[in-house]
Amino acid sequence: MAKVLIIYHSQSGNTGKMAQAVYDGALSADATVSLKKAADANADDLLGCDAVIMGTPNYFGYEAGMIKDFFDRNFFAMKGKVDGKPYATFGSHGNGGVKAIESLNKLCDNLGLKKAVESVAALREPSSEVLNECRGLGSKMSLL
Ligand SMILES: Cc1cc2nc3c(=O)[nH]c(=O)nc-3n(C[C@H](O)[C@H](O)[C@H](O)COP(=O)(O)O)c2cc1C
Repeated sequence: MAKVLIIYHSQSGNTGKMAQAVYDGALSADATVSLKKAADANADDLLGCDAVIMGTPNYFGYEAGMIKDFFDRNFFAMKGKVDGKPYATFGSHGNGGVKAIESLNKLCDNLGLKKAVESVAALREPSSEVLNECRGLGSKMSLL
């Protein structure tokens, strides 16, 4: 049974709704799933999972500060220990588009993680179609 970790940040709840749908999708694929806000996640969470899915809103064209903080706090404890581990990303944005997801993808790549599934993005509040995509993302990452 795959161990899937979901790490996200959300202030007004849009990325949080996506995270919940990713969680539901992973559970439906029989994974053991852990859903954590970035502020509460640490290196051991990432070291202990088979696949990680990270979600961020677009704040000023970048991932949320709390997501960056997760990488900053845990970098030395994770570097070299997660090479090739599959990751995927999702997030909500305003009119600025998917820059935050692209920035988050770069952080994941820099750490040595390997992108396994296409990202899912929502314009502000996720539609039911986007939430379906999020469920699909969760289930695909559980069945790698
Ligand atoms: C501090 C802040 C900065 C933001 N900057 C951008 C931005 O540069 N580009 C953009 O497209 N949306 C921006 N937004 C809009 C958010 O990405 C959007 O409202 C998103 O749905 C918030 O997700 P959340 O509910 O998960 O926090 C910003 C929102 C906040 C609160």
